[in-house]
Amino acid sequence: MLEVKGVTKYFGGLCAVHDCTLSVEADSITGLIGPNGAGKTTLFNVIAGVYPPNQGEVWFRGEKISDAAPWAIAGKGVARTFQTPHGFPQMTIMENLMVSPLRQKGEGVFRGLLRGARVRAEEKAHRRKALELLDTIGMVDRRNELVVNLSAGEARMVELVRQLMLDPQILLLDEPAAGINPALCGKLLDLLRRLRHEGLTLLVIDHNLSFIMELCDTIYVLSHGEVTPAAVSADPKVIEAYLGRAA
Ligand SMILES: Nc1ncnc2c1ncn2[C@@H]1O[C@H](COP(=O)(O)OP(=O)(O)O)[C@@H](O)[C@H]1O
Ligand SMILES: [Mg+2]
Repeated sequence: MLEVKGVTKYFGGLCAVHDCTLSVEADSITGLIGPNGAGKTTLFNVIAGVYPPNQGEVWFRGEKISDAAPWAIAGKGVARTFQTPHGFPQMTIMENLMVSPLRQKGEGVFRGLLRGARVRAEEKAHRRKALELLDTIGMVDRRNELVVNLSAGEARMVELVRQLMLDPQILLLDEPAAGINPALCGKLLDLLRRLRHEGLTLLVIDHNLSFIMELCDTIYVLSHGEVTPAAVSADPKVIEAYLGRAA
């Protein structure tokens, strides 16, 4: 579904990602693990079109996307969460979810004025979907809470759900479990597994080795901008040796 082919990304003289090749199978959960500063977020930014790669290409469903703009890539069904949530902190959870969907019919000035039946029906469907998603993370009752009042972990979950409002085909998650307490982490695992069952493909970055190992079918290790092949890195002993940490 997603192929990263020999991607290199420099920031000035610093090589953040070097000749990185990996692929994400449809309906899989693929993990990307590596120490701080390894280049994980940079690789996500290249895939999402935030930075063009200096070398290499990114392909999504047989189409080259590494020369497309971020909004165009999002429109093709590639969604991503940020390490620090990017929503609207002074708005409620529900409002954050309702502003998310791409190409809402009520967006144009004319349509907004007319507020036709189609627009209202679409808004109703979005509202229903938002409530369902909040239910899966146990936050329906808090839908009118301002995002600024949430814990870091809760804000992260809202960010995830906000991206799901876009109906993506693949979702890139940047450290979804960071700052999340164990109870919420269990809910997150359940949610991600359920999403995969429903046909969403996931690429997940995390530091937390046990979280990644529990969740992912395939794991890539990124270290100093270099990725190691999945077949090797799927071995927990190799990961442990690579990161110098126990699982
Ligand atoms: N926008 C940027 N400008 C300059 N250097 C950056 C930028 N983004 C990341 N870097 C550098 O690239 C390297 C990889 O960073 P990053 O991709 O954030 O790593 P990770 O997400 O694995 O912790 C780091 O040395 C970081 O300082
Ligand atoms: Mg990062």
